[in-house]
Amino acid sequence: MSRDRSEPLLSELSRPGRVGHLLAAPDACADATLDLPSELLRDDLKLPELGELDVVRHFTHLSSLNFSIDNAFYPLGSCTMKYNPKVNEDVARMAGFAGLHPYQPEETVQGALQVMLELQQLLCAISGFETVTLQPAAGAQAELCGMLLIRAYHRARGDTKRTKVLIPDSAHGTNPATAAMCGYTTVSIPTDAHGNVDLKRIKEEADDTTVGLMLTNPNTLGLFEQEILDVTKAIHDAGGLVYGDGANLNAILGAVKPADLGFDVLHINTHKTFSTPHGGGGPGCGPVVARGFLEPYLPKPVVARRASGDRAGELFLDWDRPESIGKLKSFWGHFGVMVRALTYITLQGDQGIRDIGEAAVLNANYLRKKLDDLYDVPFDRICMHEFVASGRRQKQQGVRTLDIAKRLIDFNIHPPTVYFPLIVEEAIMVEPTEAESKDTLDRFVQVMRQIAEEVETSPELIHDAPHDQPVGRLDETTAARRPVLRWS
Ligand SMILES: Cc1ncc(COP(=O)(O)O)c(C=O)c1O
Repeated sequence: MSRDRSEPLLSELSRPGRVGHLLAAPDACADATLDLPSELLRDDLKLPELGELDVVRHFTHLSSLNFSIDNAFYPLGSCTMKYNPKVNEDVARMAGFAGLHPYQPEETVQGALQVMLELQQLLCAISGFETVTLQPAAGAQAELCGMLLIRAYHRARGDTKRTKVLIPDSAHGTNPATAAMCGYTTVSIPTDAHGNVDLKRIKEEADDTTVGLMLTNPNTLGLFEQEILDVTKAIHDAGGLVYGDGANLNAILGAVKPADLGFDVLHINTHKTFSTPHGGGGPGCGPVVARGFLEPYLPKPVVARRASGDRAGELFLDWDRPESIGKLKSFWGHFGVMVRALTYITLQGDQGIRDIGEAAVLNANYLRKKLDDLYDVPFDRICMHEFVASGRRQKQQGVRTLDIAKRLIDFNIHPPTVYFPLIVEEAIMVEPTEAESKDTLDRFVQVMRQIAEEVETSPELIHDAPHDQPVGRLDETTAARRPVLRWS
């Protein structure tokens, strides 16, 4: 029989007369009701009545129901759920950083501006680009920023004929959404038999109406684009620019600089590659790195150093940028994330950065080879930091990829991303990251192999999974269309 892991609400735990703390009676002159309008006063307020221990246990139990990278394996393809070293948190919480106010005078925040400047320099060095903004709050907003830079570039040249953006059919959904938000139409480019974007189709489509190409490399199949230099050249020959979706930078860290591959602008998901917790809507930080000729269009303000005057040498926020695409994010972006990223990169050092990419790739290939006899892997090539398997063999036996994902929860493993990318039937996308040990990888292999066996011997076990959670299978359609977001 499964253990009941649900947790009652505080109001359900309430018992009349039970108290945690007794507040001292207010003295007469502190009567808070005196100036309040009578219609706002209540005779009765039904707060839960609980002892301190009841409250502590309630919240401790709730916290233990959370799944996180800190308590179990989280091989979420496309999301790079890697471990975030705690030292990043310590540094971001230092009073000098955490207590800053964004409207403080510049002379009092020189250290914070220095953090931004140093992070910018490191991101340029790692990616090979000349200029950068830290303002966007996430990958998706960074894409908008990058495509607005490209739009500004074409407009500044009076090149208004360009209206179409080429996007591979394996792309993350944010790519076409971004192009559409910039007022462009999109052309879907198919994936070829080897898992690359189809170069021939790109050459056919690229012309003087092409704004550019949005390309993820390694792509969302976890594969390095083998003809990348020809692809970027074809776009440049047509007068377009190439936007790099750098969400998968973790795989090539220290090995390849995206600028060397022909990208003109690229976003970096610091919350993936540079180890910031993500989920729950952020906060994230999606710096955009770009070639020098796009610098005039960067969002304002940018961090700059005063060249002359009384305060020569000081850092300041430069708003005087007539060609800028404008302000993109409130204040100066998510500063705490920048501190975490700078801490992580600095502590890794050059060799550490290179090791991250290598270990991430090694771990993914290890899992791919240990599982490819039982689960189909449609593009059978050395993969990068993740690989996409297919549950089509299991589907023929009556078990869907979704069922396999739910069964993994019984083993305290977070399900991989499923049904993405859309071009792979019954996709299962596994990204172990560099942070995991061989023991953890071996356990995952053993569990996945056990599940493959259960598909044949006891499919009902998989159909009914998960078996030991506060919430079992949801009605996914109802949950998406009529979500219940509050208790009442
Ligand atoms: C390939 C790719 N591009 C873009 C994004 C969007 O990034 P964000 O979630 O930070 O908006 C993601 C996020 O998962 C991604 O995997």
